[in-house]
Amino acid sequence: MKILFDTDPGVDDAMALLMLARDPRARLVGITTVYGNASIDTTTSNALALCERFKIDVPVARGAAKALVRPVAAYPEMVHGRNGMGDVALAPAAARREESHRAERFIARMARRHSGDLVLVAVGPLTNIALALEHDPDIVEHVRAVVVMGGAFGVNGHAGNVSPVAEANVFNDPHAADQVFSARWPVTIVGLDVTHEVLLDTAYLDAVGRDGGAEGAFIRDITRGYEEFYNRQTGGGIYSHDASAVACALDASPFKLRRGPVRAVTGGIAMGQTIQAMPDSPVPAIDWAGRPQQSVCVDVDASRLRADFRTCFVGK
Ligand code: BDR
Ligand code: CA
Repeated sequence: MKILFDTDPGVDDAMALLMLARDPRARLVGITTVYGNASIDTTTSNALALCERFKIDVPVARGAAKALVRPVAAYPEMVHGRNGMGDVALAPAAARREESHRAERFIARMARRHSGDLVLVAVGPLTNIALALEHDPDIVEHVRAVVVMGGAFGVNGHAGNVSPVAEANVFNDPHAADQVFSARWPVTIVGLDVTHEVLLDTAYLDAVGRDGGAEGAFIRDITRGYEEFYNRQTGGGIYSHDASAVACALDASPFKLRRGPVRAVTGGIAMGQTIQAMPDSPVPAIDWAGRPQQSVCVDVDASRLRADFRTCFVGK
């Protein structure tokens, strides 16, 4: 499967990238960066450094520094550290340079080059994808599927992580999210409803660190501060949101999907909330009418995902 990875590395972004690099089902064809977990300078530098360190030989194109409309909120240093990598030093890439094209142009070029084959896996604010749609609206005909880590639909008792109703990636650019969900291409949304079901506990992370080679050891290092942050919510262990989205892109069979048009709330106290209209609901849904049916993940076989991550990093 040919994948273009749009990302704001980020601790769980780095885990997802290393999965994409290791999993034989994935053929990563490029990376686009976006602000989110840190500034665009930091996330781009992290993407280049990760590629150099782990010999991931794909082009990296810099994307948006801010959302389409709203000002950038503070970067979540308490989750991802000041450098986005849990404050673990990551040597800047010495030999690798970013692409001369900006992310939106790069996305459009890759969509056309790999027409019918390319899956966009987007695990940061959706600004680059919305800008790519604006730059070349016909990419909807060329992209095979879009898999998004973002949103929270209140399923399984999981609502927001940056407000009572909003998930961070959608909250950071709700206008972009609304455009991406409303475009006429197939979108699968991997939100907190399922990522919060896949807990990776301390023993699991220790095993990845011990048995997972250079990548596993790096993952263990960068997840220590992230784990401290999440321990307060989970009682022990982390959610690797972006790795769950990669898992879904590679094989959606561990997930239960729910179909219906999806909107993101773009202002007010519910800014960033994601809402899906149910096709069989008797309730009027005028603001969803005529928009494409998208797929929202509402359940997941968490044991299978944990086993898949382990196979990817530890090999058994
Ligand atoms: C999402 O926000 C970011 O902090 C993570 O990398 C993930 O993509 C989770 O809400
Ligand atoms: Ca991310």
